[in-house]
Amino acid sequence: MGNNIFGIDIGTSNIRIYNQADNSIFMEKNMIAIENKNQLLAYGDSAYDMFEKAPSNIVTSYPVVNGVIADINNMETLIKLFISDLSKGNIKPADYYIAVPTDVTEVEKRAFYDLIKDSGVKAKKIMVVEKAVADGLGLGIDVKNSIGVMVVNVGYSTTEISILSLGGIVLSKLIKVGGYVFDDDIRNIIRKEYNLIIGQKSAEKIKISLADFEKEGKNAVAFGRDIVTGLPMEREIPTELLDSSLVDSFSQIIDNIKVILERTPPELGADIYRHGIYLTGGASKVSKLADLISKSTGLTVNVCESPIDSVAEGLSKVINEDKYRKLAYTIEGMSAK
Ligand SMILES: Nc1ncnc2c1ncn2[C@@H]1O[C@H](COP(=O)(O)OP(=O)(O)OP(=O)(O)O)[C@@H](O)[C@H]1O
Ligand SMILES: [Mg+2]
Repeated sequence: MGNNIFGIDIGTSNIRIYNQADNSIFMEKNMIAIENKNQLLAYGDSAYDMFEKAPSNIVTSYPVVNGVIADINNMETLIKLFISDLSKGNIKPADYYIAVPTDVTEVEKRAFYDLIKDSGVKAKKIMVVEKAVADGLGLGIDVKNSIGVMVVNVGYSTTEISILSLGGIVLSKLIKVGGYVFDDDIRNIIRKEYNLIIGQKSAEKIKISLADFEKEGKNAVAFGRDIVTGLPMEREIPTELLDSSLVDSFSQIIDNIKVILERTPPELGADIYRHGIYLTGGASKVSKLADLISKSTGLTVNVCESPIDSVAEGLSKVINEDKYRKLAYTIEGMSAK
């Protein structure tokens, strides 16, 4: 029997690991909790449980910032812990396929490779796949034979807008807008209009439930601290106000989609016109974004069932389907790009 193979999508807020051994996708928060400056207290979802609630001697943090590795030591620790958990405490030599953003520096890309190499997970082989290519496969597109595909991944702190053709990336742009920015928009408007300070987790809950509130014709409910009295309180917030707070961030995404479309060679543009835009990433589900992109560009927007793990789904196809294996490349190939 050969080595096991893992496929990893290291996001700013979530890490997803495809495990070939049982054909499953594992997902946890990409977060670490450190106590008294240097003791590991918790990781993954349990670190996230402490986020915004822990006393000051406990620091919770995301080692990935804006899609790139910012804290190498903690990221290495996390990878080793997650792989160890998936290996039931006994890490064996394995191959790794890792998704990387396209519109980052060569050094930032290499950091993903070095991360796997240096984290003590006994990597036999490390292959790299451009995130947007994996995304396309995860969305069910035969990226190797398709000409002119636009993939927009709205994640936690980034949105990656890419044009694919024949398995390669023609254009890609990474912008700093995503679910975290939407949470912030919601926090800011509630603070401004109601003098109410709410936590990021509360804002995220409101954002995720916004579409349901709208469907039911109900106001959203926010819990927080009143700025004036300093006391905890609950307020009902009209959904129209929340929608209006998100408009500027949505416009940034749409403006950048238009810029990329303008730069796309006309032959590819025709295919994008025919097939529409493929929208994915966890935050792509936020209320009204897909509609607004469609209205502003005049293009169909294809949404998917499980946008949060489309990259990991795509990695599983690269790993398991011979015809897609070549979409992964070794680090030596990197400098050629
Ligand atoms: N149903 C939903 N509606 C709106 N937003 C959602 C929903 N489900 C998840 N999200 C948001 O998706 C974001 C996480 O998405 P994702 O896991 O794709 O990001 P990431 O890969 O960790 O980040 P990045 O790609 O920026 O590095 C969070 O901001 C989360 O609040
Ligand atoms: Mg992501």
